[in-house]
Amino acid sequence: MKPFTTFIFLCTLCLPLFPQEIAARPRNVTKTIKQVCAHTAHKDLCVSTLAADPSSQQANQTGLALVALRVASTNASDITEHIKVSVTDMSLEPAVQQGLSDCMDNYVDAAEQLDDSVAALLAGAYHDLSTWVNVAIADANSCESSIKGLKTGMSKKNVLFQQLCENALAITKAVAGK
Ligand SMILES: *[C@@H]1O[C@H](CO)[C@@H](O)[C@H](O)[C@H]1NC(C)=O
Ligand SMILES: *[C@@H]1O[C@H](CO)[C@@H](O)[C@H](O)[C@H]1NC(C)=O
Ligand SMILES: *[C@@H]1O[C@H](CO)[C@@H](O)[C@H](O)[C@H]1NC(C)=O
Repeated sequence: MKPFTTFIFLCTLCLPLFPQEIAARPRNVTKTIKQVCAHTAHKDLCVSTLAADPSSQQANQTGLALVALRVASTNASDITEHIKVSVTDMSLEPAVQQGLSDCMDNYVDAAEQLDDSVAALLAGAYHDLSTWVNVAIADANSCESSIKGLKTGMSKKNVLFQQLCENALAITKAVAGK
């Protein structure tokens, strides 16, 4: 095949992939994202979650701290919704159902703590913020205790959620110079 023909042929192969490629393409990892994520313990998670949020593109460091808290809060709400659906499965053992129901209470609280933390950051109340984000982390620990030894699929979610909270806390601390 001539180079040009080959090119056209390859392009035809790629074509069906394109729309997904564009949808899945991460947004720009800005210099500010790199700066704030350098303070976190879970850097890859930090960069991917912040870059995925459209409002991160123009955000300064405080703006990114807000995004990080909102990402964690949204995750708590998503997890709550996920549990709400799973817990209705009548075939679950009572112990699992009880564990999941406890976890749901924990995540409802965690989402509230994180929403309050957003308000605290805007008010410059870093001490409150740190207290409340740590309560959210403790909520995930309580959930983990409630489902100990049970098959629920919650453990991975607890770990990831705590990492989101730890990242948000590290970013706000760096922003506040604490
Ligand atoms: C990413 O950066 C490029 C070049 O700076 C810019 O043109 C583009 O709009 C940015 N993309 C997003 C999603 O902001
Ligand atoms: C940084 O972003 C925050 C939140 O979006 C905004 O309130 C603040 O004025 C910005 N600070 C600077 C120095 O631009
Ligand atoms: C957040 O929560 C959902 C729902 O449980 C989970 O599947 C997802 O991977 C979590 N992580 C992020 C970064 O949103």
